[in-house]
Amino acid sequence: MDLSLNEKIKKLKEEKNAIIVAHYYQRDEVQAVADAVGDSYYLSKIAKDCSEQVIVFCGVKFMAESAKILSPEKTVLLPSLDAGCPMADMAEAEDVLKLKSKYPNAKVVCYINSSAEVKAVSDVCCTSSNAIKIVSSLPDKDIIFIPDKNLGAYVQEQLPDKNIILWNGFCITHKKVSAAEVLKSKEVHKDIKVLVHPECEKEVRDLADFLGSTGEIITYVNKSSDKKFLIVTEEGVLYELKNKNTDKQFFTPYGSMCCVNMKKTRLEDVYDSLHNMQYEINLDEEIRTKAYNSLMNMHKLGR
Ligand code: 13P
Ligand code: SF4
Repeated sequence: MDLSLNEKIKKLKEEKNAIIVAHYYQRDEVQAVADAVGDSYYLSKIAKDCSEQVIVFCGVKFMAESAKILSPEKTVLLPSLDAGCPMADMAEAEDVLKLKSKYPNAKVVCYINSSAEVKAVSDVCCTSSNAIKIVSSLPDKDIIFIPDKNLGAYVQEQLPDKNIILWNGFCITHKKVSAAEVLKSKEVHKDIKVLVHPECEKEVRDLADFLGSTGEIITYVNKSSDKKFLIVTEEGVLYELKNKNTDKQFFTPYGSMCCVNMKKTRLEDVYDSLHNMQYEINLDEEIRTKAYNSLMNMHKLGR
């Protein structure tokens, strides 16, 4: 690890009154320099409540946008301009409005992995850690769930009284995992526990010993007395898992499970971001205000 670059980042951070936040999928060295590391829900809480004037968001665009939606008075920087989320790009506000007109009695719940525009036409946001809680807290039977069809289908399985109208979105990283690959690991390691992110396909979710967000998977391992885990989510979580659990063994499907967009942010980009105050997130105020309501509804209902 480049210590001098680390030191420079820390110095700049203080000069600029900045906080560096990083998602669990970020590169190890980026997580190491961050003030807060977490899942989407935790990081959105930090963005809402932190006192620093500048937020350097090491993640993908929808995450930095969510920080700006919640804290418009702050400068929010995304160190790698082209770090996007292909799943978030699978839903456009215009198409959501069309679907909404077909189901006038439905509430629109949108996964935080969505654009500010899509959040603006939704009733409430959710993350993978609170989707069931959010949907069950709504009195409405009909729910349009955007954009992840796998998370939406998982919510439907857990809440059979609801009628969930699914969108055809998915995460390319999680969708790739097959049940055969999970079964292969179970065959090799008889005592392995399978921990799965709900963005995976049903056949993989059905093989899980535990299903949860990145943060929930980490908490599960920290508390578990088991020693071997198949981690069916992006491999960035291994940094935290290995640091906190030196006596446990971790395996990933295919030996690697990587989101290329999450890995676009290098330590140099974090430095450049603070040094040049780039790349600043700016949103149309009308869209931001509407998206703010959806995100704040999540924070109220998800408490
Ligand atoms: P979490 O909400 O678990 O942090 O997941 C975000 C994400 O992008 C999963 O692919
Ligand atoms: Fe998007 Fe999937 Fe990457 Fe998460 S892992 S940021 S859902 S592409």
